[in-house]
Amino acid sequence: MSLHGRNVILGVSGSIAAYKVVQVARDLTQAGARVDVLMTEGATRFITPLTFQTLTRRPVITDLWQDWSEDAQGHISLGEEAEVMLIAPASAQTIARLALGLADDMVSLTALATYTPLVIAPAMNYHMWEHPATREHIHTLESRGATILSPGRGTLASGAVGEGRLAKPVEILGAVRWRLGRGGRLAGTRIVVTAGGTREPIDPVRYLSNGSSGRMGYALAQAAIDEGADVTLISANVDLPPPWGADGVPVTTAAQMLDATSRACERADALVMAAAVSDYTPASPSGQKLKKTGGGLALDLAETADVVASITRPGLLKVGFAAETEHLRENARAKLERKGLDLIVANDANATIGAPDAALTLIRADGSVEELGRRPKEQAAEMVIAALTGLMNRKDT
Ligand SMILES: Cc1cc2nc3c(=O)[nH]c(=O)nc-3n(C[C@H](O)[C@H](O)[C@H](O)COP(=O)(O)O)c2cc1C
Repeated sequence: MSLHGRNVILGVSGSIAAYKVVQVARDLTQAGARVDVLMTEGATRFITPLTFQTLTRRPVITDLWQDWSEDAQGHISLGEEAEVMLIAPASAQTIARLALGLADDMVSLTALATYTPLVIAPAMNYHMWEHPATREHIHTLESRGATILSPGRGTLASGAVGEGRLAKPVEILGAVRWRLGRGGRLAGTRIVVTAGGTREPIDPVRYLSNGSSGRMGYALAQAAIDEGADVTLISANVDLPPPWGADGVPVTTAAQMLDATSRACERADALVMAAAVSDYTPASPSGQKLKKTGGGLALDLAETADVVASITRPGLLKVGFAAETEHLRENARAKLERKGLDLIVANDANATIGAPDAALTLIRADGSVEELGRRPKEQAAEMVIAALTGLMNRKDT
């Protein structure tokens, strides 16, 4: 996973939302990141350093003057080793310090002492968030390249309803991953990923569909973001949080999937077609809810257009998926040729659709075959994106 072995500084400031960041510190650490927590004096009023120290298994620094080492470079070396500095929750006060370049506490000093990219998750009362001073500071930080996680709207600690709630831990984690991915092997490329299963209406309340959860497509989108790609994620009926940083395009039917994918591919380098698109659609869906007639019901079905085969833009690298119930390799290879793909990911439909893991086989247009073995979809997705990266590099040379 992309967070493994990465160096992250977490700066915590004095907001009531500090307790929510405990989860972020835990998730980052469990994902294999080294997390060094710095706290403002205000932050220690809300939560103890011991909590972060226990979860990150690293010392927590709260005082500018504390434990100053002989080489007297503590805050600078910490910042130089870090690949990203997350400031969460960022109080209005800390945001002002960062914008003005003040350095009178460990969080602002460390941010000022290095060029480590900043990810800032503000949390405050909505008057503070809307105040022109805060707006200006946020604008300044954004213009310097900081990633700001806009606070959500909802009931604040004071009981008032407004904008100012800390972003959810999953979003904060996603933004850190996105930031860490910038400059990766796919930096500067745009990849279109499709996910989920299309729905073909029979009448206003019923549809034909399949059991695709969208998990594979979302994992592929995340793996591409981890490598620095700009990702357009076209999702059909997926009930999962999209990876942070993806441009999401929701669709319902196969026709909408074709339309959205063709448009997105006009400015893309690669298409990864992981969605399960219906092959058939009711020829004339009923405008009204169908009633029981006492007899059977015959549906007249028309074939849908093939999305990946219809997109033929020169230079676009195409990765398809073949979920088969028999003759896996033969069927996948035939599909690769028929649809003009560069790579096809073959999998056993019975064991993969809707499941948390997958046993994938990669078949390239040059005939090479790679068995990936059964593994969680997130890990399998990283291997597919690594294979795609290899093909893209080959195309460029
Ligand atoms: C109970 C309580 C809750 C607070 N919550 C917030 C908050 O959510 N956001 C914020 O910007 N300030 C909040 N403050 C005010 C900050 O703690 C205060 O401005 C402090 O100086 C922030 O300094 P720091 O950024 O160095 O931690 C709160 C203060 C109190 C007493």
